[in-house]
Amino acid sequence: EKFLKFFESRGHKIVPSSSLLPTDPSVLFTTAGMQQFKPYYLGEKSPWGKNVASCQKCIRTSDIEEVGDERHLTFFEMLGNFSFGGYFKEEAIKLAYKFIVKELKLEIDYVTVFEGSHGVEFDKESYGIWKNLGISEDKIKKSGIEDNFWGPTGTGGPCGPTTEIYVNGIEIWNIVFNEFYFPGTREELLSGISGKKLEKLKTPGVDTGMGLERLAMVVQKVSTVFETDLFEPIIKLIPEEFNERKKRIIADHAR
Ligand code: ALA
Repeated sequence: EKFLKFFESRGHKIVPSSSLLPTDPSVLFTTAGMQQFKPYYLGEKSPWGKNVASCQKCIRTSDIEEVGDERHLTFFEMLGNFSFGGYFKEEAIKLAYKFIVKELKLEIDYVTVFEGSHGVEFDKESYGIWKNLGISEDKIKKSGIEDNFWGPTGTGGPCGPTTEIYVNGIEIWNIVFNEFYFPGTREELLSGISGKKLEKLKTPGVDTGMGLERLAMVVQKVSTVFETDLFEPIIKLIPEEFNERKKRIIADHAR
């Protein structure tokens, strides 16, 4: 609620979560908040205006083997603000900083920015924006395409460099600058084998994602997502004979 109100009062239309079963035929499940907005990055007019925010239900089967550690889930809710040609890097980073530091009063451990590769330059603009916000240079880390370049989802779509915010040692917020369209899968982008190239989007967009469960974990000062008030009531229902890891897996899958 706090997240949605923050963005609503700053010119964003609040859009309900879309179904976990997406209309996009190139993916089996909705994996990110941006999924329902994919066409608006590519030029289609958004019925909700240029700036929106949502709390999107997501399923990531790719994380299934990691469930049971302190922070991975297959089902989670993703808080996000999005812009389709409304604002870009400066505004997006300032909004995120304001929400985390001023509104929630959390301390940022460090942030990451894209170091550049695959024909895309080092994101010195984001670097400079963080620096101007008072983040010292030793806390602005450069990182590669695996972690700091998001997308595309499915068989093609918008994608771009990211900047990520870390609090209490975990990544809580991923801010994506959709500057490109890639006409293939992420694997094809990373390997370069297909020969397909990144194309510059006419209007760059913003796509952000912050895991509600991870945010709850740091705000509620607990050491795993399973100890937040989102999970405790479920964990309590699971018989004692299951060990901790199994309880976490059952709770995740049950949700
Ligand atoms: N779409 C981005 C993500 O899922 C924000 O991390």
